[in-house]
Amino acid sequence: MPENLNVLFLAAEAEPFVKVGGLGDVAGALPRYLRGLPPEVTEGSALDVRLVLPMHPVVKSDVSDARPLLIFPLAKKDGDVQVQVFETSLNGMTVYLIDGEPISSSGSVYSLDAALDGEKYTFFSLAALELTRQLNWKPNIVHANDWHTALACYALLIKRWEGEFPAVSSVLTLHNLPFMGPDVSAHLEAYGLPLAQTGLPEWAHALPLPLGLWAADSIVAVSPTYAREVLTPEFGCGLQDYLHARREALNGILNGIDVESFNPATDAAIAVNYGAPTLSRRPQNKTALQVRLGLPTDANVPLLGVVSRMDPQKGIDLIPKALKKLRDLNWQAVILGAGVPKLEEQVKALQSEFPDRVRAEFKYDPGLARQIYAGADMFLMPSRYEPCGLSQMIAMRYGCVPIVSAVGGLKDTIFKDETGFMFEKPTVSRFATAIKKAIAIFPDRAKWEAMQKAGMEQDFSWTVSARQYFQLYQRTCARLIAR
Ligand code: GLC
Repeated sequence: MPENLNVLFLAAEAEPFVKVGGLGDVAGALPRYLRGLPPEVTEGSALDVRLVLPMHPVVKSDVSDARPLLIFPLAKKDGDVQVQVFETSLNGMTVYLIDGEPISSSGSVYSLDAALDGEKYTFFSLAALELTRQLNWKPNIVHANDWHTALACYALLIKRWEGEFPAVSSVLTLHNLPFMGPDVSAHLEAYGLPLAQTGLPEWAHALPLPLGLWAADSIVAVSPTYAREVLTPEFGCGLQDYLHARREALNGILNGIDVESFNPATDAAIAVNYGAPTLSRRPQNKTALQVRLGLPTDANVPLLGVVSRMDPQKGIDLIPKALKKLRDLNWQAVILGAGVPKLEEQVKALQSEFPDRVRAEFKYDPGLARQIYAGADMFLMPSRYEPCGLSQMIAMRYGCVPIVSAVGGLKDTIFKDETGFMFEKPTVSRFATAIKKAIAIFPDRAKWEAMQKAGMEQDFSWTVSARQYFQLYQRTCARLIAR
């Protein structure tokens, strides 16, 4: 085992620099928690984890303290591309920000048209790998996340075959299998990387995520259930047989949440702080939320909360349909999130139909999100698939009881009828039945509080997952050395 374990952690987004979705939460937290693992867990090896991110134009204006570190050329057939590297730190962890024409010329973190992101992320992945050589800092593990950085695993394997980067292993974490990236054959060619014979299905042979899945020494799905689901036709997106062939390399490690930041006892964004022993204070947050949203202030009406990207994945379309079926019951709903316009329209229509019961806000608003976790009674998450899901964990931590479909990480984080309500298969009628059941139990204060407390007492901290990643790093290095 190497005495020091060096890890280069690549992601398209990471809090607090830039966050679009759950990947940003994970990439902002996991590397820090890995670094914080105590020596008794790391058996004395020093873990040096460094995060590398693209210097997205939105990041640039925010990191004025980042210092220019170095400039080097990345070889490309029609003329080398200059890579500019900046260095900053996050709680003592080194963070590299990579800039260069393909990044600076792009608008947002992700384009609506993924094809436009092909060159940017090819450039970023290759530049990040090359950076380690320029710095003369040898990682033991290159840890990539999702399609955007998967090509770092691919380039590493090809280069390892050519005798470069000896004894450097790779880990690829799958946060969302359906997003595989665009055809990058032309970009790989331009940067001098051949397209290998991979045995991937023909349609996938030039897509970054499949290439990463082929090349990575270890693959991680963000929950044990998702690791099993991706081997099935229902969730495998056409790669199930291929992943099956690689199942020895496939692991499931649950994400954590930042339990210090998401703590109802200290959260400054909510009206009144509380914890499991002081749960009787929690209803004041419900009143404050009802007042803020202009809903009738009533402690007895079940308040349903949604905080989500408006995406078909999240089953947002099922929410208006299920609530319309339950029009004869007493409930209020608050829905926060932005995304696909058609889904926003459906939620807007629900609000027009129930003007005295539904409030919807179409934006990303972390403060309001926290007030919903603290003030709503139930949290709706009827996902069609859910690699891990973070908001159900946050909801439970705040005593907001989740009502979820039994998929992926939702199954691994919720105990059915103990910490939340769960229904098989995301259909309108099953979802409506689950909400009805929760509404029926809600007036039984003792039973309800027991559920809230059971959820609040779960350990969703990163420490457990960071330890599992560390053990995976060790196994991955050992396998490569043994080869
Ligand atoms: C993606 C997945 C979500 C997961 C997150 C972080 O956003 O959809 O389930 O929690 O990545 O891994």
